[in-house]
Amino acid sequence: DDGRRLKALFEMATDGIITMNDRGIMENVNRAACELFGYTAEELRGQKVNMLMSSHDRTHHDEYLERYQRTRVPHIIGIGREVTGRCKDGREFPLRLAVSEVTLAEGTVYTGILHDLSEFHLAKKRVDDLN
Ligand code: HEM
Repeated sequence: DDGRRLKALFEMATDGIITMNDRGIMENVNRAACELFGYTAEELRGQKVNMLMSSHDRTHHDEYLERYQRTRVPHIIGIGREVTGRCKDGREFPLRLAVSEVTLAEGTVYTGILHDLSEFHLAKKRVDDLN
């Protein structure tokens, strides 16, 4: 059926996909998102998305959400941003973050698509080092 098909597509996507509510609590996380950060889905579901960031953003992400919900002025939604992710083991890595928003009867859901930029950064550094 359609539900199982969509679930398989979500689970097997090559980019990380994370959905969260208006307070930043993660609801759905696919396999690629778990692999990016080194957590199991059980360790992520129900926790705040802030746990995946380095210290500055981790402290301020709640304010980012509040400001957006108050002003409706997006800084990432529909724009995208290169940000720094933080793994369970403390390692930090660059990633491209895209965020979309959908309003459902049960509330607002944000979907983040996370694309690992580690390889790109390494390749870029090798090119830069040639010059
Ligand atoms: C806003 C960082 C993950 C949803 C922001 C901003 C930053 C940020 C820096 C504010 C941008 C600004 O005001 O200039 C990060 C980092 C993440 C992360 C480092 C690392 C994993 C996520 C995920 C979602 C998400 C997974 C959604 C599921 C949002 C929303 C906003 C926001 C809704 C406010 C709307 C907007 O500014 O357009 N984030 N974020 N973030 N983030 Fe995240």
